[in-house]
Amino acid sequence: MAVRVTPVRLAALLVTMSCARALALQRNHILGRATRGFSESKRVYYRTLYFDQQIDHFGFLENGLFKQRYLLSDQHWRQNGPILFYTGNEGDITWFCNNTGFTWDVAEEMGAMLVFAEHRYYGESLPFGEESYSNAKYLNYLTSEQALADFAVLIKSLKASVTGAQNSPVIAVGGSYGGMLAAWLRMKYPSVVTGALAASAPIWQFTDMVPCGDFYKIVTQDFAKSGINCSKSIRRSWMAISNVSSTGEGLQWLSEEFGLCAPLKPQDVDDFRAWLQETWVNLAMVDYPYEANFLQHLPRWPVKVVCTHLQFDSGVTDRQLLHGVSQAVKVYYNYTGSAVCLNMSETATGSLGTRGWYYQACTEMVMPMCTDGIQDMFEPQSWSLQAFSDECYGLFGVRPREHWASMAYGGKKINSHSNIIFSNGDLDPWKSGGVTKSLSDSLVAIVIPDGAHHLDLRYSNEHDPQSVIQARALELQHIKQWIKQEQV
Ligand SMILES: *[C@@H]1O[C@H](CO)[C@@H](O)[C@H](O)[C@H]1NC(C)=O
Ligand SMILES: *[C@@H]1O[C@H](CO)[C@@H](O)[C@H](O)[C@H]1NC(C)=O
Ligand SMILES: *[C@@H]1O[C@H](CO)[C@@H](O)[C@H](O)[C@H]1NC(C)=O
Ligand SMILES: *[C@@H]1O[C@H](CO)[C@@H](O)[C@H](O)[C@H]1NC(C)=O
Ligand SMILES: *[C@@H]1O[C@H](CO)[C@@H](O)[C@H](O)[C@H]1NC(C)=O
Repeated sequence: MAVRVTPVRLAALLVTMSCARALALQRNHILGRATRGFSESKRVYYRTLYFDQQIDHFGFLENGLFKQRYLLSDQHWRQNGPILFYTGNEGDITWFCNNTGFTWDVAEEMGAMLVFAEHRYYGESLPFGEESYSNAKYLNYLTSEQALADFAVLIKSLKASVTGAQNSPVIAVGGSYGGMLAAWLRMKYPSVVTGALAASAPIWQFTDMVPCGDFYKIVTQDFAKSGINCSKSIRRSWMAISNVSSTGEGLQWLSEEFGLCAPLKPQDVDDFRAWLQETWVNLAMVDYPYEANFLQHLPRWPVKVVCTHLQFDSGVTDRQLLHGVSQAVKVYYNYTGSAVCLNMSETATGSLGTRGWYYQACTEMVMPMCTDGIQDMFEPQSWSLQAFSDECYGLFGVRPREHWASMAYGGKKINSHSNIIFSNGDLDPWKSGGVTKSLSDSLVAIVIPDGAHHLDLRYSNEHDPQSVIQARALELQHIKQWIKQEQV
């Protein structure tokens, strides 16, 4: 998921990723539109399908349908075997499929069918085609409730139409916002899904539920422990930017030093800071123990690599410090060496539907965030619902309902539900809004000390820390138990 950094800049992505490691996917024309991929050891194969979905599940006036895309892989499925159903989040479903290796890793031993369902208004699943984002009337059906209803209806239909699936237990799987949807799908539609694996799902990141400063505190802790004086240097950089950007010559120096595509003008300096802040957040989210390409192509433990450029003492000059910051930022934007210039509007993969997520943040998914410059390495910024609301109104002509999500999804009183695993990584800023203590025997929290954003949903890797190997084993154990109970 993206994080909102300033009233003007809607930043952080609540992103969840993990269906392709080194898959060289090819088109295959034998079974309609099909895709086949190879990794070092296994073959990944799925069909791309479309389901006629109701535009509005909750009213009776708008009776239109749209094509919802989903990906289906049944190469390891046995009749009556389980279905692992990925509840797609804010982006292209093939990208989530590429980044959810865990399900591919376990499909064979579980005899499981894999389904990756795209979230409405993202990727190809556009209720009003190209017009879907053109006005507030068309955007009106972009809600988590509608998306959950899509998933439930699709599952019912699949079970009814696929021979041998009538009695298949369904497990919802998702990461980030997709993890929130997985958990909520189990809560709202218990007759449809038997259980849910909700990875890095900040279901409590809403108004009055967790302190607004926790998110950035975790980002800061990651940098503080990844290198000497690393978070201190970043904390000092904000003032250095003010100093240097106060002259025209300084602005030009900054633009060149960072290799920006468009030279900074005095009015761009706030945006420049917000861009840096968002870059640090994204790095913390994807601080994986091996080379990976999720938001960007990055080296293993990228925050450690970034911090090698930020080991300054207090005598450093403003320009030395900012040179270090530019080198650090280029680890994120230019690891492959192919960036001609850095574009401040492109902070992560284009597979994410940033605009759709902003709209959701501006309506139901209001996630207050703040900084104080003491517990975190950022400039102090308080949370202002009014400023946020005004910006939303300007962008989309709508205003947020800040308490709705906690009303609709049970807030902190979710103990009466069952069969949900909440996994969180200690390195992941989104842990701030996650469930990190078990609420009952079947609402299980798993914390992964060396894990960034839903590391557990990714393919297994030779550099995986012991903690994520254990987490996955425990997750699998719970899921198998739910399936067994269902099949009795
Ligand atoms: C998924 O992975 C395949 C194989 O690496 C790649 O060709 C495709 O572009 C990826 N899709 C996305 C949306 O990243
Ligand atoms: C910025 O300028 C002020 C005033 O000249 C100076 O005290 C400070 O050291 C400079 N740099 C930083 C990072 O604060
Ligand atoms: C930066 O990226 C945005 C969004 O992709 C694009 O519209 C814009 O043209 C790019 N700017 C430059 C200077 O490359
Ligand atoms: C870290 O900063 C402190 C305070 O300025 C300084 O004494 C120390 O030498 C710095 N460490 C390194 C490795 O630069
Ligand atoms: C990215 O790295 C390449 C190779 O080191 C370099 O030539 C290029 O200038 C870098 N781009 C930027 C924007 O710094």
